[in-house]
Amino acid sequence: MSVEPSAPAGSRRPALHAEALRKTFFAGTPREFAVLRGVSLTVERGRICTILGPSGSGKTTLLRCLSGLEPVDSGTVEVGGTKVHALSPRQTQRFRREDTAFVFQEYNLISDLTLRENVELDRPMAPRPAELAARWRLEHVLDHFPDQCSGGQQQKAAILRALNRDVDVLFCDEPTGALDGTSAGEVLCVLQEVSANGVTVVMITHNEMVTEISDRVVRLHDGEVVSDTVVPDPRPAGELEW
Ligand SMILES: Nc1ncnc2c1ncn2[C@@H]1O[C@H](COP(=O)(O)OP(=O)(O)OP(=O)(O)O)[C@@H](O)[C@H]1O
Ligand SMILES: [Mg+2]
Repeated sequence: MSVEPSAPAGSRRPALHAEALRKTFFAGTPREFAVLRGVSLTVERGRICTILGPSGSGKTTLLRCLSGLEPVDSGTVEVGGTKVHALSPRQTQRFRREDTAFVFQEYNLISDLTLRENVELDRPMAPRPAELAARWRLEHVLDHFPDQCSGGQQQKAAILRALNRDVDVLFCDEPTGALDGTSAGEVLCVLQEVSANGVTVVMITHNEMVTEISDRVVRLHDGEVVSDTVVPDPRPAGELEW
């Protein structure tokens, strides 16, 4: 069940606030394409915000702009007090490395590194990701290269790589897109767990069921937010029936 968002929470500073984001691409047909047309978004710390919308509505572009991966044409993005839109390229690089992690829609694993080496790109595997690798039945392929693994195994490794970063904000682009129901449920349980520990999760999905475990649900259409609702009582991910 969803209700309209309440007034901005008084003294509580949001983890992420974007205002009037605009982004136009100058390639393809039509030559000039306005992908984001004034998108505003607020996510409180330690909450899961889910973004839905038809294919091509601008979800990935929005996530890339929020995370500093893509510069915006106009508008503001503030993440944990950092004005992302105003950072220099070098500052953006540091922000992306130290404050956020991104799970890519196409996984973006490095092809000549094993899954383990991909997960350990930034630091040795922490106990929690190591435990999850076992629980997610990934241990036997950790020393395989991405092209020796299934899409689901690669997607789980991409999620572990992000979790191994120990950051405040986690951006996930369809993190369960390649997973069977059991695996999707397991991943969502962990995302709910990290959010309960204070990590803010901004996640794209095509699966309506994922809205039930989210704190906030934002729907995009043609680069505009067409609805933004808070979920007063999200369900535990373990309760979803896949
Ligand atoms: N680098 C780019 N250059 C030109 N056009 C782009 C670029 N990136 C995205 N687009 C266009 O912007 C639109 C939105 O793309 P985006 O990837 O954000 O959609 P999406 O909502 O994530 O879709 P999907 O659900 O299929 O992943 C599409 O029409 C796409 O072709
Ligand atoms: Mg996308």
